[in-house]
Amino acid sequence: MKDVKGDIKRLKNVATIPVVMQRIMEALSRDDTSYIELSDLISHDQSTAERVVAVANAPYFGHPGMVNSIEQAILLLGIDMVKSIAVSMAVFEMLSRGEARDMKNFWAHAYEVAIISGILCEKVPVTASGVCFLAGLLHDIGRVIFYTLYRKEYTEFMFKEGLTEFEQERFGADHAIAGMWFLEKIMIPEEIVYGVRYHHGPSPAGKHQGIATTVYLAEGIASMVSLRKGVDSTWDDHYQSAFQEAGLNDSVLEEIKSLLAEEAGMIESFFGL
Ligand SMILES: [Fe+2]
Ligand SMILES: [Fe+2]
Repeated sequence: MKDVKGDIKRLKNVATIPVVMQRIMEALSRDDTSYIELSDLISHDQSTAERVVAVANAPYFGHPGMVNSIEQAILLLGIDMVKSIAVSMAVFEMLSRGEARDMKNFWAHAYEVAIISGILCEKVPVTASGVCFLAGLLHDIGRVIFYTLYRKEYTEFMFKEGLTEFEQERFGADHAIAGMWFLEKIMIPEEIVYGVRYHHGPSPAGKHQGIATTVYLAEGIASMVSLRKGVDSTWDDHYQSAFQEAGLNDSVLEEIKSLLAEEAGMIESFFGL
């Protein structure tokens, strides 16, 4: 059995979280970040800034090809959404430098779940849609962590069915719990941490059940509509009843499908697939 929690603590590139990223994280949990403060903060880290601008141009945000700078992204998408994207991109930068193709599949899957989660949040507003987007983007971060920590073992089963059972058995923790430990360590707000922790079963999520259910459903919907390799669940009766309970219907699925089709090109080029 592994000491996953301890190994996360000792993770090298996490032990030295860049100062810029720390400040972006801090800005995420504050409501009073100003426009200038935020654009200053992000512009300090050029690669994160470039990624934020690239993502802000995705069809999902409604201004494809129109965003050329952080300032413009803030004007068109709003401060909260840009904060969320900046945090996601900073985490992405931190964990994926020079990484292998498998990791790109995780991220492409994560990005699809983020979009679906954001759309669901607009239909059933459990919290700000930027928060749902971010929780979706980070939902499988535990898989990236396992891949980083135990690559050889993990590659044997990381795209197999029954993934969480395999993880439990080999590591004593699944990727949802590992994701929580990691996100707590880098000081991501509790609401998002809960969304990630309970994305494979939202009922114990307590006061954060809304966001947990949103990410859970986004994962389930991805398993139905996406053809990507990184999907880690299968649509079943539990999903179906949660979907109906949330008051969602097939027109939402159609909307999601067509948006994902529109996003396909951007996903491919952004994640280098
Ligand atoms: Fe997952
Ligand atoms: Fe997933």
